[in-house]
Amino acid sequence: MIRARITGTGSAVPEKVLTNFDLEKMMDTSDEWIVTRTGIRERRIAAEGEYTSTFAVAAAEKALAAAGVKAEEIDLIVVGTLTPDFPFPATACIVQQAIKATNAFCFDLSAACSGFIYALSTADKFIRSGQVKKALVIGAEVLSRIVDWSDRNTCLLFGDGAGAVVLEAQEGDHGVLSTHMHSDGNYWEILYQKGPGSRKPATHQNVDDKLVYLTMQGNEVFKLAVRAMGEVAQEALEANGFTPDDVTLFIPHQANQRIVDSVGKRLGITGERVFVNLDRYGNTSAASIPIALDEAARAGRLKEGDLLLLDAFGGGLTWGSALIRW
Ligand code: UT7
Repeated sequence: MIRARITGTGSAVPEKVLTNFDLEKMMDTSDEWIVTRTGIRERRIAAEGEYTSTFAVAAAEKALAAAGVKAEEIDLIVVGTLTPDFPFPATACIVQQAIKATNAFCFDLSAACSGFIYALSTADKFIRSGQVKKALVIGAEVLSRIVDWSDRNTCLLFGDGAGAVVLEAQEGDHGVLSTHMHSDGNYWEILYQKGPGSRKPATHQNVDDKLVYLTMQGNEVFKLAVRAMGEVAQEALEANGFTPDDVTLFIPHQANQRIVDSVGKRLGITGERVFVNLDRYGNTSAASIPIALDEAARAGRLKEGDLLLLDAFGGGLTWGSALIRW
């Protein structure tokens, strides 16, 4: 059977670090509150002249180097992002130009924090169908440009960066075993960016009225995230005849330590088997899982044959999981 195997990973984050102590000087908050409620200690913030594509390109180049694949061998580039460089063209096309992946077709995918799982699933289907042999799947965000820096309920949760994987068609039992995705549009209003868009175009008035920022009902999102992430992880395991004990490493979306702990506890996957880096990056939305995956790979935490469980949740609502034999 042809499967999509991850043959290289890469990630890139801005150099600028914004700590909770820096935030204490900017707004009415405390390191103690942020750490207790979220587990986040610092996040990376893009500098002037750095864009979503800046990090997507850097992550892609590292993933290609790790895989030993040349850019012109890539047939498909998919970028999961909710903060593209422009509404159009796709950031994937900007990445294509930068890395000279001249033979690829390219598009972005909008599934908020589930963007990487959705993109991975899409690329996996193209590979299984035989249409694509090698794909670049990227999750990339510059969330610092869509948060309202005067809203302490949201701004301190998010960070910037990108992660990428090279997927290659290979015969055998290794690679993406299955992906599972769900959405519930009934809840789109609990987590979304108000504009600019066709509802709230980029008028002076809409900017003055702050109708251009991310907004979130944190408590609601929290409850739904724990349930949905637990269920879709279980679904992935059952679909493949595994139990939580079979999972070598669980890489959940890095939104909040309490969400990660609750989902892990529900599944019975805890401690060393759960990968966490949200303390250093905050919530990087679609970039969070591929950055974590790259850090796990480079830290030597992934051995051939290991079973990886990826699990995400985000605006839409969207959620999804992927089970991977490394
Ligand atoms: O990627 C998926 C997207 N998002 C998420 O996964 C986020 C999910 N939600 C969460 O992570 C949590 O709901 C938050 C971290 C956003 C908030 O934590 P919470 O435990 O749900 O706090 P809360 O919103 O219930 O607020 C508790 C209190 C409030 O004060 P009162 O009304 O109880 O007096 C807030 O005003 O904490 C206050 N508060 C803050 N205090 C200091 C809210 N933000 C801050 C802050 N610093 N930054």
